Amino acid sequence: MLVLGIESTCDETACAIVRNGKEIVASTVSSQIDLHAEYGGVVPELACRRHVDVMIPVIKETLIKGNLTLSEIDLVAVSQGPGLIGALLLGINTAKAISLGLNKPLIGVNHIEAHLYAAVMSHPESVSFPCLGLVLSGGHTSLFYMKDFNSYSIIGHTVDDAIGEAFDKVAKIMGLSYPGGPQIEKLATTGNAAAYSFNAGQVKGSPLHFSFSGLKTAVLYAMRDCPSLTHSVLCDISASFQRSAFQDVITKTLLAAKQLNIQTILFGGGVTNNHSLRRMFSETASNYQYLWPSPGLSLDNAAMIAGLGYQNFIKNGSVSQKLDLEAFTR
Ligand code: KG4
Ligand code: ZN
Repeated sequence: MLVLGIESTCDETACAIVRNGKEIVASTVSSQIDLHAEYGGVVPELACRRHVDVMIPVIKETLIKGNLTLSEIDLVAVSQGPGLIGALLLGINTAKAISLGLNKPLIGVNHIEAHLYAAVMSHPESVSFPCLGLVLSGGHTSLFYMKDFNSYSIIGHTVDDAIGEAFDKVAKIMGLSYPGGPQIEKLATTGNAAAYSFNAGQVKGSPLHFSFSGLKTAVLYAMRDCPSLTHSVLCDISASFQRSAFQDVITKTLLAAKQLNIQTILFGGGVTNNHSLRRMFSETASNYQYLWPSPGLSLDNAAMIAGLGYQNFIKNGSVSQKLDLEAFTR
């Protein structure tokens, strides 16, 4: 079964064709980093206009790469949310038009669930449920107890900034361009992580919730109080910030795994690209099965949407959703 996936929740316009939920036939991601870099974050109106410009070319390019025509597609899957409303509507209406025009079934996919499915697509082995799912992205810091892909409960989330957002804001304070995560990672490689004693926030009465806004402010103060912001100081601050953010995520995730007697952890979202995060997890506890997404599947992409769309469609008895399928922003 060939599934055409469309992704446009935020600042990537993406299309992919996936066979039977796992085999990526073709995938295209058009990033808007250039467009938003000068603002230090995503400007929703600009994002929407770019989606309008590139949506059809991205779909055409994907079909050409896969040497396929739209008539050969069996199902259209689209990111339904969460995300920016205008951006979501662009993708959803494109998917509806293809579904209606070519009489193909349509299915909406939750973008966050798809980030975790990306980890499954990246590994040949099947996942043994229950497991934990950890999504670390620009919009989310969420910990899930998963009985299956669409049967889960959220057991931890951020009460303020998402972890990727904290990376982006710290980078902005340092004068680095958007997105800040990869740049902080790079500076951190030569920095001393013990140079500053930063700490992520703890949420009273909710040991599995996250808080990163205080950590970001601590970086701001450290920079304000520093007499000379040399390159090596910025490396030390990056390393200290990164380590404290990741230490917090690791402690809470492993606490949940212990409490719930879980052996397998799935990861998703752009921040899980970070090598230091992956290494720290393995060094802290080597007795868990960590399923990381492959590099091309950790950032926003449409292969994960097509993949999970296939699984959901089969599970729903191959019933198409109707044209009144709506976007959800949160
Ligand atoms: O999953 P994603 O592409 O988009 C959302 O759904 O948010 O994640 C983007 C986020 C940005 O905040 C970016 O700074 C962060 O992921 N990121 C990283 C790294 N690569 C991307 N953060 C830390 N280290 C990285 N290597
Ligand atoms: Zn995402």
